[in-house]
Amino acid sequence: MSQDRPLNNAELLSVLDWYRAAGVDMAVVDEPVDRFAQKPPAAATLPPRAAQPSQGAVSPSPAPGPIGGDPSEARQLAASAQSLDALRNVLERYDGCGLKFRATQLVFADGNPEAKIMLIGEAPGAEEDRQGKPFVGRSGQLLDRMLAAIGLDRTSVYIVNTVPWRPPGNRTPTPEEMELCLPFLNRQVELVAPKLVMTLGGPAMQTVFKTTSGIIKMRGKWQDVAIGNHTVPALPTLHPAYLLRNPPAKQQAWRDLLSFRQRVDELGLA
Ligand code: URA
Repeated sequence: MSQDRPLNNAELLSVLDWYRAAGVDMAVVDEPVDRFAQKPPAAATLPPRAAQPSQGAVSPSPAPGPIGGDPSEARQLAASAQSLDALRNVLERYDGCGLKFRATQLVFADGNPEAKIMLIGEAPGAEEDRQGKPFVGRSGQLLDRMLAAIGLDRTSVYIVNTVPWRPPGNRTPTPEEMELCLPFLNRQVELVAPKLVMTLGGPAMQTVFKTTSGIIKMRGKWQDVAIGNHTVPALPTLHPAYLLRNPPAKQQAWRDLLSFRQRVDELGLA
């Protein structure tokens, strides 16, 4: 049945809901658009925000105007943050990584910043992008159950991703995007100074362990890793999204979780 009248608001919203339920989360047009050729949005040229008293120093103050996509600048900006709030503030204003312009918002961290256990995932997905928190979608729900199975929860861990903005269409972040975001991850780890780290999935493992090996080979093997200037024992395990697609792999993940819990107990961390 076709209708000639325009749709009303309620009908438009229900069409959008239907798209969302069907997994459509990006608007596209008939002709391809080369977004790399476009100028950054106006936000990229905003002057620096006034320092907020509670957010610590963000010195040296970045120059007015856009911040470029230069890894050494990213390193300098990250190093300037003396607290997690300051680091979040720096990232909110950082325009060097193109992922920011296609994401809804920054996904900085979740959990307890005082925790001595840090989990590092890959990148925010659609739900994380909507809520501004890591691991709040389906894989996040599984992650919560995995943590609960070894007596942990978001009050006892701090959760971050290798990149803090959602890659369009949930693609894997490119090496360039990773390189630009890595100084911020390194700084986040330095500021939290965890006593144990668990990486979730291949890309996070490769970034943290500085390897091109695959996750299937590496999972379950502890190593001391240097993340920024902080050295910490780290355990790579499988990503919850992979476990959702491959339930039999939960056996391996369970072994990793038990090994992780054992270290937590040895160090008296939770
Ligand atoms: N997958 C990730 O790696 N990180 C998230 O925050 C969500 C899903």
